Amino acid sequence: MSWKVIVVLLIGLLAWAYQAFCPPSPRICGSAGGPAIEGPRIKLRDGRHLAYMEHGVPKEIAKYKIILVHGFGSSKHEASIATSELVEKMGIHIVSFDRPGYGQSDPDPKRTIKSTALDIEELGDQLELGPKFYIIGNSMGGQVVWGCLKYISHRLAGAALIAPVVNYWWPGFPSNLSTEAYYQQFPQDQWALRVVHRAPWLVYWWNTQKWFPHSSVITGKPNFTAPDLKVLAKIAGSLANRGYATQQGLYESLHRDMMVGFGRWDFDPMNLENPFADREGSVHLWHGTEDGLVPVSLQRYIAEKLPWIQYHELPNAGHMFAYADNSAKDAILSTLLTGD
Ligand SMILES: *[C@@H]1O[C@H](CO)[C@@H](O)[C@H](O)[C@H]1NC(C)=O
Ligand SMILES: *[C@@H]1O[C@H](CO)[C@@H](O)[C@H](O)[C@H]1NC(C)=O
Repeated sequence: MSWKVIVVLLIGLLAWAYQAFCPPSPRICGSAGGPAIEGPRIKLRDGRHLAYMEHGVPKEIAKYKIILVHGFGSSKHEASIATSELVEKMGIHIVSFDRPGYGQSDPDPKRTIKSTALDIEELGDQLELGPKFYIIGNSMGGQVVWGCLKYISHRLAGAALIAPVVNYWWPGFPSNLSTEAYYQQFPQDQWALRVVHRAPWLVYWWNTQKWFPHSSVITGKPNFTAPDLKVLAKIAGSLANRGYATQQGLYESLHRDMMVGFGRWDFDPMNLENPFADREGSVHLWHGTEDGLVPVSLQRYIAEKLPWIQYHELPNAGHMFAYADNSAKDAILSTLLTGD
């Protein structure tokens, strides 16, 4: 082969690699060709915008104020807890928001667990929710709640973690326990997390390539157990729509979410101190024994390590129990806000 051919082949290879590994720029909301800005947004400390939505009674007359954090591939429209009758009865104001990169919130390529906690603090300030508010996080939104307990606990009146996603690499887990749970996952999920944790530069390629199966959560066929299939049949189609959630692109929404959630954390939730040791407020964690996405064995271990967390283990409940019916939503709200 002449050197000219080799150079041409090399350039071709580089061009292919560049295309395959580099994610395309996000389609920013409000930019030319990007999705439209339709709801209210606040402007954050670094110029990014955060889109939000208000539910329940007006904040001016509300007795309780809650910020709601959505899960993976979801958005501010994931707010079914706001349909609980208790919202009117108890006087609850709820704010949901699109996490950075989702829906109409600007992407945050520097996103960390801490930055999202600070975004939430700013959201509370700009919406004048007062010195303290409650926080509820579902599934991957639970990771954001751990971040709030670490970085803005002085702003919290109480916190609820609903089927929160764990990170298998939190050092507090005994390695035999986390390893056992890790290998119970589908092989394609083990691979998806391995890539996210060990080779984040490969994440875009991995999640767009056609040779190996993708994460079961991204393809919409995770390990749902019987109780989840029942819930899903009931709420068919009413879950937050993935198209809206990822309208700015998959990389700064889904892929970034996985990189932050399953990457290296600056702290281990299992080392957190009780933020309410000397004042009022409580932290609750709900988890179903039939959760096929987040192993109950790991959640139990966290609850054991953190006795100040009120752990509610639900028999015969899956990952989606909070959407099941109004009794689940009522129980979460009344337990969090009044302790019973
Ligand atoms: C992990 O090891 C500890 C200590 O050796 C043991 O008590 C525990 O049962 C083991 N757990 C599992 C899931 O193997
Ligand atoms: C699916 O979930 C069940 C119930 O939690 C669990 O026993 C099983 O190991 C899970 N399977 C996979 C592949 O994750």
